[in-house]
Amino acid sequence: MLLKKQTLGEFIIENQASFKYTSGELSRLINSIRLAAKVVNHEVNKAGLVDIIGTAGDTNIQGEDQQKLDVYANDKFIQTLTNRNIVCGIASEEEDDFVAINSQDENNQNKYVVLIDPLDGSSNIDVNVSVGTIFSIYRRVTPLGTPVTIEDFLQKGNQQVAAGYVVYGTSTMLVYTTGHGVNGFTLNPAIGTFYLSHPNMQFPEDGKIYSVNEGNYIHFPQGVKDYIKYCQMEEGDRPYTSRYIGSLVSDFHRNMIKGGIYMYPKHSKNSNGKLRLLYECNPMAFLAEQANGKASNGHTRIMDIEPTELHQRVPFFCGSKNMVEKVEEFIQKHE
Ligand code: AHG
Ligand code: MN
Ligand code: MN
Repeated sequence: MLLKKQTLGEFIIENQASFKYTSGELSRLINSIRLAAKVVNHEVNKAGLVDIIGTAGDTNIQGEDQQKLDVYANDKFIQTLTNRNIVCGIASEEEDDFVAINSQDENNQNKYVVLIDPLDGSSNIDVNVSVGTIFSIYRRVTPLGTPVTIEDFLQKGNQQVAAGYVVYGTSTMLVYTTGHGVNGFTLNPAIGTFYLSHPNMQFPEDGKIYSVNEGNYIHFPQGVKDYIKYCQMEEGDRPYTSRYIGSLVSDFHRNMIKGGIYMYPKHSKNSNGKLRLLYECNPMAFLAEQANGKASNGHTRIMDIEPTELHQRVPFFCGSKNMVEKVEEFIQKHE
């Protein structure tokens, strides 16, 4: 049965011609992500057995406690991407500043920058709940052979050439897009191979699931409060069901398969919400749009927002098209 399915390696080769830049580059990029994903997966899977759960004793630039696995995943992705002669810079949620690769080498012909959230949902590690990795890939805008600059990273989401995530769930999946739809690959851990299990993934236009941290309800803007009440009202196909894992990757993955909306609104104490534009929202927005869904900050398309800093946060509403449009309607009524 499995042997009939296409492997990720075969899929990359078969589809590389549709990549608008040099075809071999895409293969090298996705291959390096695939390799790092397997290494991190191996560690996540035995987290309860080895001394890898718990905090690392440090906080990241955003003041959040770093978990040991945050640091481990960050190191593995950076190491893997550094050694493949394809990436000239990496920005990570866990690093204060971007990391330049071979920046002193004038012959450095590496054209791509990668932005990553190495471990998403890390507060779920200690309790054996799904976590993920999110990645976003751009072509550098500064000339080849010169050091990368902040400009290479502060690009709008609509310039992404590829994006995706790994979900370390009941099974491990790699889901990505290069702008030609979204495909999902499931890892067979016994042989270490990803197989195409979810071709051409699509958000249903409507959904019945809303995902939001309702503990923050009293701090939400009135429009979001009203939308939540709308979801709970008995009328037509409502009430909707509430599902919130607290790992964006896992909540997004479920909503894409079943139909739903993920929301991280602004907050009376946190005027831009929590999620990071470059490492979380843009890659998820690219995937959502490629899967017939939508991603917005309540007013503007996420991928049209001009980034001003690496660790910038934005309110995030993402998922089934009609649901995102409905929450936008409620928000805009009040502002
Ligand atoms: P990270 O672990 O990379 O810091 O991201 C956690 C994010 C996201 O995955 C999740 O949906 C959200 O934070 C949960 O936040 P709350 O605990 O505030 O609901
Ligand atoms: Mn995250
Ligand atoms: Mn993270």
